[in-house]
Amino acid sequence: MDNLNFNKIAAGVICGGLLLMAGIKAGELLLPHQELEENAYPFEVAEAGDGQSAPAVVEDTGPEPIFAMLASADIDAGQSLSKKCTACHSFDAGGSNKVGPNLYNIVNRSVAGVDGFKYSSALTDFGGEWDYEQLNGFLYKPKTWVSGTKMNYAGLKKPQDRANIIAWLRTLADDPAPLP
Ligand code: HEC
Repeated sequence: MDNLNFNKIAAGVICGGLLLMAGIKAGELLLPHQELEENAYPFEVAEAGDGQSAPAVVEDTGPEPIFAMLASADIDAGQSLSKKCTACHSFDAGGSNKVGPNLYNIVNRSVAGVDGFKYSSALTDFGGEWDYEQLNGFLYKPKTWVSGTKMNYAGLKKPQDRANIIAWLRTLADDPAPLP
């Protein structure tokens, strides 16, 4: 009898645990974790000065150049970082366009260069090529670098992260672009 009661209690505890886990999982599915597109709290606010001193503006320091970091960048770390992009981009040769265009062979490719992808006019008007400098700037803060782009991504603030992912992107080509 005691044994049976113990089993009932144990079953209750286990069921409770499972329900809790299912609840957490369901919560994640219903409310997926999302990156904020912008700071929830803009910090580039100028203080009303006394008319004498310059307003206190927090300078945006980026995008820091990454050329010198590319040769020694961590390509595996770059590949891991690309998980932040795969919701919207495929990276394999001939991969399909998703929310964003396929990114195989992106280094030195024409901006807005994938046939059949519907780019924003902001990006088609931007022109030029995705050389290392342009990629660095765009990945730092897409919406600042190409004002009006429809890439809804906050950006990679750490120079090392940008160097790593750009070094990895470079390898996705039949004939990788030379390093700077
Ligand atoms: C929420 C979806 C989304 C995410 C996440 C995202 N992108 Fe994009 N990306 C887009 C869209 C949409 C465009 C097309 C932008 C336009 O037309 O203005 C784009 C365009 C680009 C382009 C220009 C492509 C071209 O053909 O000119 C590059 C480069 C790029 N993304 C890189 C990245 C990288 C690297 C990441 C991850 C660090 C990333 N994106 C994350 C949606 C996304």
